[in-house]
Amino acid sequence: MSGALAGKRVLVSAGPTFEDIDPVRFVGNRSSGKMGFAVAAAARDLGAEVVLVAGPVQLDTPDGVQRIDVRSAAQMHAAVLEALPVDVYIGAAAVADFTPRRVSEHKLKKTVGSDTLVLELVRTPDILAEVAVHPRRPALVVGFAAETHEVERYARGKLANKRLDLIAANLVGAAGSGFECDDNALTVYWDGGERRLGPAAKTEVAARLVDLVAERLQA
Ligand code: PMT
Repeated sequence: MSGALAGKRVLVSAGPTFEDIDPVRFVGNRSSGKMGFAVAAAARDLGAEVVLVAGPVQLDTPDGVQRIDVRSAAQMHAAVLEALPVDVYIGAAAVADFTPRRVSEHKLKKTVGSDTLVLELVRTPDILAEVAVHPRRPALVVGFAAETHEVERYARGKLANKRLDLIAANLVGAAGSGFECDDNALTVYWDGGERRLGPAAKTEVAARLVDLVAERLQA
């Protein structure tokens, strides 16, 4: 296969994670998986061999992409580490930062006389940060940052703290970008540079992102 990523193995994570509370309830988020699936398809279009670790989403697998379905942050963590080594890791998934300390075996019942329920949540492993310091670290580790304000400050903080090569920041909580919709606008930051991608369809933004990834791999 020809293309700027020919011969490269690219691992993409996409979608939300669902953290079970009991057999019928979970803690989740609004990620549809569209951004990550578009990134996987765009990397394939540049000739890469693509592995896509997908949280629970209702999307068809892009042709030619190897898909691994997971539900929870713990399962995504295991699947991503299992897929190493790769040349590039792109973490587009909205991984839950917290998960219930324990999953109830039975459906939680309303307690007579109580109007509140306290859930104890514990931190999940930071998959992206772990990949970035892994002995089999990919040549390029790319994170996403979902921010509601002060996008550059928080994104650059994640770039440095998680030891990433690139971070693609998007505004969430506003119409026309981020979660669920078909369009997005990204600003990609790296040490000493930045590039604005979009606003455009997620498929277009993803194509421009993987072009940049191919460029930075050469740099
Ligand atoms: O799926 P869509 O509906 O198309 O929406 C796309 C999107 C908004 C989900 C996507 O563009 C996006 O921003 N994905 C990252 C969402 C997120 O979790 O951002 P964050 O700023 O909380 O996390 C920063 C980075 O750390 C992300 O790359 C995330 O994958 C990673 N992370 C976070 C927590 C954790 N436990 N492990 C991680 O790997």
